[in-house]
Amino acid sequence: MNTKALVFDAYGTLFDVNSAANKCKEKIGEDWEKFANFWRTTQLEYTWLRSLMGRHRDFWKITQDSLEKSMQVFGVDKNMKNELLNLYKVLSPYPEVKNVLETLKDQNFKLAILSNGTPSLLNELVTSNDLNNLFDDLFSVEEVKIFKPASKVYEIPTKKYNIKASQITFLSANTWDVSGGGNFGYNSVWVNRNKSKFDLLDYQPKNEVSNLTQLLDIV
Ligand code: LAC
Repeated sequence: MNTKALVFDAYGTLFDVNSAANKCKEKIGEDWEKFANFWRTTQLEYTWLRSLMGRHRDFWKITQDSLEKSMQVFGVDKNMKNELLNLYKVLSPYPEVKNVLETLKDQNFKLAILSNGTPSLLNELVTSNDLNNLFDDLFSVEEVKIFKPASKVYEIPTKKYNIKASQITFLSANTWDVSGGGNFGYNSVWVNRNKSKFDLLDYQPKNEVSNLTQLLDIV
């Protein structure tokens, strides 16, 4: 692989987006996982809709709005809103993340996050999980004020590192994000943790891994 930089999506790829609701599952009740999935889907829909409407608001506002709607739909006690939002700021990483990043850093790859998250959210995520020293950059869509999968977003690291898109290996668990990066020209790798099916959106990844440890075999 002609990789100069490894760029990772954050939510769902490095960090478990369901871990906030999981930590309150007794209080939310047996539908906690459906509620967490609905929150995530609504959050992503709001990013796409706001991008198409040209009405950008940052990811934190969108996370709050999508949580509010999800709490209404699932009848979750309003008093839990702050607790869930605070937990969202410190989502847990998947178990293999730290070791894999340490190994890649020892191999002298440039390591970055490219995410819809705001700079302060990304900073808190990596700091609270003791991963802050492992990344060269935390790239946020706030630099361009439009969400993934707009090409302007994927352009951010190519400009910063002055490299071609094909020199970036991009990792995402979100199929549409893999397609977005791949259509831009990245070598996009799909982190398929749940044996899911890929989308029909022009790009098919050459590589698929079921967790990040497998990335070490292909870079
Ligand atoms: C992100 C979302 C797509 O981190 O997971 O950008």
